[in-house]
Amino acid sequence: MKLWGGRFEKPVNQIAEEFGASIPFDRRLYREDIAGSTAHARMLARQGIISNEDAEKIVAGLERIREKIDRGEFNFRLDREDIHLNIEAELAADIGEAAGRLHTGRSRNDQVALDFRLYACRTIGQTVDRIMRLQETLVNLAEKWHGVIMPGYTHMQRAQPVLLSHHLLAYFEMFQRDAGRFSDCYGRTDVSPLGSGALAGVPYPLDRDFVAAQLGMSAVSRNSMDSVSDRDFLVEYLAAAALCAVHLSRFAEEIILWSTGEFGFIELDDSYSTGSSIMPQKKNPDMAELVRGKTGRMVGHLTAALVMLKGLPLSYNKDMQEDKEGFFDASDTLITSLTVFEGMIATMRIKPEAMAKGADGSFATATDLADYLVGKGLPFRQAHEVVGKLVRYAIDHQKTFSGLTLVEFKEFSPLFEEDAMRITPATSMAARNTYGGTAPAQVTNAIAASRTLLDETRQWLNGLGF
Ligand code: ARG
Repeated sequence: MKLWGGRFEKPVNQIAEEFGASIPFDRRLYREDIAGSTAHARMLARQGIISNEDAEKIVAGLERIREKIDRGEFNFRLDREDIHLNIEAELAADIGEAAGRLHTGRSRNDQVALDFRLYACRTIGQTVDRIMRLQETLVNLAEKWHGVIMPGYTHMQRAQPVLLSHHLLAYFEMFQRDAGRFSDCYGRTDVSPLGSGALAGVPYPLDRDFVAAQLGMSAVSRNSMDSVSDRDFLVEYLAAAALCAVHLSRFAEEIILWSTGEFGFIELDDSYSTGSSIMPQKKNPDMAELVRGKTGRMVGHLTAALVMLKGLPLSYNKDMQEDKEGFFDASDTLITSLTVFEGMIATMRIKPEAMAKGADGSFATATDLADYLVGKGLPFRQAHEVVGKLVRYAIDHQKTFSGLTLVEFKEFSPLFEEDAMRITPATSMAARNTYGGTAPAQVTNAIAASRTLLDETRQWLNGLGF
């Protein structure tokens, strides 16, 4: 087929054709392309730019093509370069001359921008839905295991006792912000560029608002040159995706550590683990490792998009065709990672005794003993010194705080009384009753607050039709 009309005398070189074609990947936009063309054709007829009869033929023909693609019977052709030309050529073969009127007042530049924005909106909804499910699982676990004590870490050293629920809800918060970033960029993505033409607008009396309304989009873009060349919405998605992947990766790292023999805090379910082909005893946390590993390419896709855009003059440039594969891979990877991760943590076996043991035998209540001395009037810095020496003594005698007698305590400070011996991880946590702290009462409130946030996300998704 001669794609480019009368200007060309020679067919394209075969390698150049393959190099230039986007159909191997942009075929994923077919639903959006057909929705956009349908709305455009209806608008053209409404405005008297094409006849109603032609519009009917176009709309019906597009519907047949959609069904054909749905059934997997459509022959995508490389020599038709991209999804837009594939569909248009098929339409022409089906309905004849009327198909040639569809592209009136439109360019592939505003067409592809529209398709991609519609596609990205749908993807944002799917992504937020998966984040929300993972958050639900986190809240359910936090509720189920409320009361389980574990060591909290800084520098990967045992620091202070915390509730497992508090630890899990820390990830809830990260994912809450991730969901917020996605829903925030939805508003800037949900804007119709159609009617911008190639770059300067079009010389037909188009009704851009009608098209946007038909497509369920909230706004029309304000500047035609920006509309055909802006891909910020894609960068925003990739940035939010990379960050969400980083959060998942940090969590994955903890799951991997917790499932080691050294920690023994959890055991992953067989259905989310793999064995070794040589070491019969092995049970590997492959899913968590892969989630962690895939973060690299998520960050890569963000970088690739930014670098692709950085030197581009206005307006459309073919470089922009490079926007799609990274987006598809990033969103597929993120959605699958979220799904697998959710299943993995929902089924893991939690070992409360091992966690409690870690919190108990590790001087994690040292700060509380210092605070105890502060309560007796000692300045905090001196109290810190006293307890530091007490810890040194206990380590030298291979004991923990609970193995020391009051006499031993008093050797370090006469201010220690019997009640100092009753400081435990549980009392330590209960004392941290500031808003956002790990005290059980605070965590109970945090669970309730998290459920309210989940309801808000659910409502937002319902509004999108999820
Ligand atoms: N396949 C192209 C892309 O993805 C569609 C837009 C082509 N526009 C053009 N003027 N060549 O960007």
